[in-house]
Amino acid sequence: MVPAVIEYREISKSFGGIRVLDGIDLTINDGEVTYIIGTSGVGKSVLVKHAVGLLKPDSGRILIDGDDVTDYSEAQWRPVRTRYVLVFQHSTLFDSMTLRENVALPLRKHGGLSRHESYRKARDFLEMVQMADKGDKMPADVGPPERKRVSIARALTLAPECAILDEPTTGLDIIASANVDRMIDHLARVLNKTVIVVSHDLRSIFGVADRIIFLYKGRVRLDGPPEAFRSSDDPVVKQFIRGEPTGPMEM
Ligand SMILES: Nc1ncnc2c1ncn2[C@@H]1O[C@H](COP(=O)(O)OP(=O)(O)OP(=O)(O)O)[C@@H](O)[C@H]1O
Ligand SMILES: [Mg+2]
Repeated sequence: MVPAVIEYREISKSFGGIRVLDGIDLTINDGEVTYIIGTSGVGKSVLVKHAVGLLKPDSGRILIDGDDVTDYSEAQWRPVRTRYVLVFQHSTLFDSMTLRENVALPLRKHGGLSRHESYRKARDFLEMVQMADKGDKMPADVGPPERKRVSIARALTLAPECAILDEPTTGLDIIASANVDRMIDHLARVLNKTVIVVSHDLRSIFGVADRIIFLYKGRVRLDGPPEAFRSSDDPVVKQFIRGEPTGPMEM
């Protein structure tokens, strides 16, 4: 049996009286690439933020590696967040530092490397996202897709067991998103990491996912391998694949 890493048990979460998550039961398995999908505003980012303690459920429990983390304090969450890293939907690089420095900083802060070593190692991480030749540039000198790749490289410096990528290919052209897909594949198949990807990108989903979780109206509507998703008879799933609106807008 595959050991479970993140378990959501009957998780509900509302904002301003609107129930975004409505009793989510879900187990993310170790070593798998799990895609979380669903229309804009359905609660994908809210769901993954619960896995790193940035949001707390109104009800339900969250377990990580079998430990109930639901009532963890900030201090208890901190070490968890080096093993389970969330790369946010929007870039959070430091604007005043070069791309290399952005990646080198956590290597010194958490990895205890010297300045010289941290720069050398940062180059390897930038290489992984095809950004090694741009280490001297400032975040403002490159486009959003490149900033996204550097954010991913920075997250990986912590050597997390689980990388959670919120919309890693949104706004990227087809070549840049193929590079991100390759990186996700490498993380899972070569480095044996657990990867959770929030995405709208069907091409990426069908190319890389082991498992797809489709959220709809606060619940898990479909949970299975890409084949099950593609061949589903569920009209809501079919509508999503065709790119038609299925989201809370029509509620
Ligand atoms: N901190 C918050 N405070 C209040 N409402 C919030 C908060 N975070 C999320 N929401 C609301 O919860 C709902 C789900 O948001 P979420 O960001 O998870 O959507 P999403 O599925 O990630 O959408 P997208 O694909 O556009 O990123 C939205 O209605 C959003 O406005
Ligand atoms: Mg989101």
